[in-house]
Amino acid sequence: MSDLHERHRATMPNWMGLYYEHPLELVSGSGCRVTDASGRTYLDFFCGILTNMLGYDVPEVTDAVSRQLATGIVHTSTLYLIRSQVELAEKLARLSGIENAKVFFTNSGTEANETALMLATQANRSNQVLAMRNSYHGRSFGAVAITGNLGWKSSPLAPFGVHYLHGTDRHLPVYANMSDAEYIAACTDDLRHLLAAGAARDVSCLIAEPIQGVGGFAMPPDGLFAEFKKVLDEHGILFISDEVQTAWGRTGDHFWGIGAHGIVPDMITFAKGLGNGFAIGGVIARGDLLDGLPGNGISTFGGNPLSTTAANATLDYLLEHDLQHNAATLGSMIISSLTDAAAPLAAAGQVRGKGLMFAVDLVDPATGEPSPALATRMLEETRERGLLIGKGGLYGHSLRMAPPMTLTEADAKEGVGIVADALRAVDAEARR
Ligand SMILES: Cc1ncc(COP(=O)(O)O)c(C=O)c1O
Repeated sequence: MSDLHERHRATMPNWMGLYYEHPLELVSGSGCRVTDASGRTYLDFFCGILTNMLGYDVPEVTDAVSRQLATGIVHTSTLYLIRSQVELAEKLARLSGIENAKVFFTNSGTEANETALMLATQANRSNQVLAMRNSYHGRSFGAVAITGNLGWKSSPLAPFGVHYLHGTDRHLPVYANMSDAEYIAACTDDLRHLLAAGAARDVSCLIAEPIQGVGGFAMPPDGLFAEFKKVLDEHGILFISDEVQTAWGRTGDHFWGIGAHGIVPDMITFAKGLGNGFAIGGVIARGDLLDGLPGNGISTFGGNPLSTTAANATLDYLLEHDLQHNAATLGSMIISSLTDAAAPLAAAGQVRGKGLMFAVDLVDPATGEPSPALATRMLEETRERGLLIGKGGLYGHSLRMAPPMTLTEADAKEGVGIVADALRAVDAEARR
């Protein structure tokens, strides 16, 4: 074990996992590549869990941040006007499609979701919340309470009454042979029945990820959330779209992940990619909802001059370079190449994704059961070949990949080639 690894283990909680048998220390980065402490460079298909959205060392972002640092002001608090914060809020409100939208900035996705839950429970005077099975919404007490993935559930206690909905569990035998339309109808009937049975009276909101991040990029068929929303609207239940992983055009066809369902939610929560590494999150909601809290509110660091400057520069870059289009084009090329590569391999299960958010499941070649062990092998094999990827999923058997949205076609082909090669090696090993 390296000295740094030992010191990490001695001082950090053991539930904060590290990737790889010999964990990596990344010391520099440029474009879509990062270099470790031993001087080895890797193509990065996970970008700090979808957070280095433009990649590394982007002059437009670093110059903007340097100019802000040169003013001598990193922080002022929200007791004073912050120009970059107001400008960012204006852009996000406009992009959200939400009527009369306002924005509150936080430092993380967890805090963003906490805020949204506070708004919804206050607006509807109820602590009853609907969430999706296999969801992940953050690590705080409230966020863990609505997380539907046991591996991330650090406490069984909850400030909410929570009911979990079907929608991303199509692998279950009862749904396996259904068409999209049949599955959507079954899940919507279940929601109706849940509400009619009174299992959740006076529900405040549904919170859902359009594509489940930690959940291994599991997703409902397009249109499911539109059907859900019809039912929710009948009951005055608010819809919160957790876009922490799916925002900013990463899914290719739409700017927000929820766009695939053709609806505008009541609230959007965001974080990760917006600051290209600088800590920023927040909630966009109808003004009446955001104004609806009775007490005072503040986030000391949320929306500070430095993070909002980085976020403005990142968002401007993203829009000016139409990176959503890049995600759509390269994403479909990658997903179809990976599908072809996986087809003949017994150890490769489902390939899925949208835009630059794609996953491959690893399964036991003999039984077809999820194989977290083979997914772990894949991480080592891809690293060995110079590529960083992630993993996740309810059973820990999904490889998650989400490269920077600035990815080039050459980088895309190189990354897919490495994944395909590693899949073949792991498949051969598993069948031996
Ligand atoms: C969908 C989703 N929501 C919320 C969070 C929590 O965000 P953070 O880690 O910034 O608190 C995450 C983090 O992975 C996430 O993927």
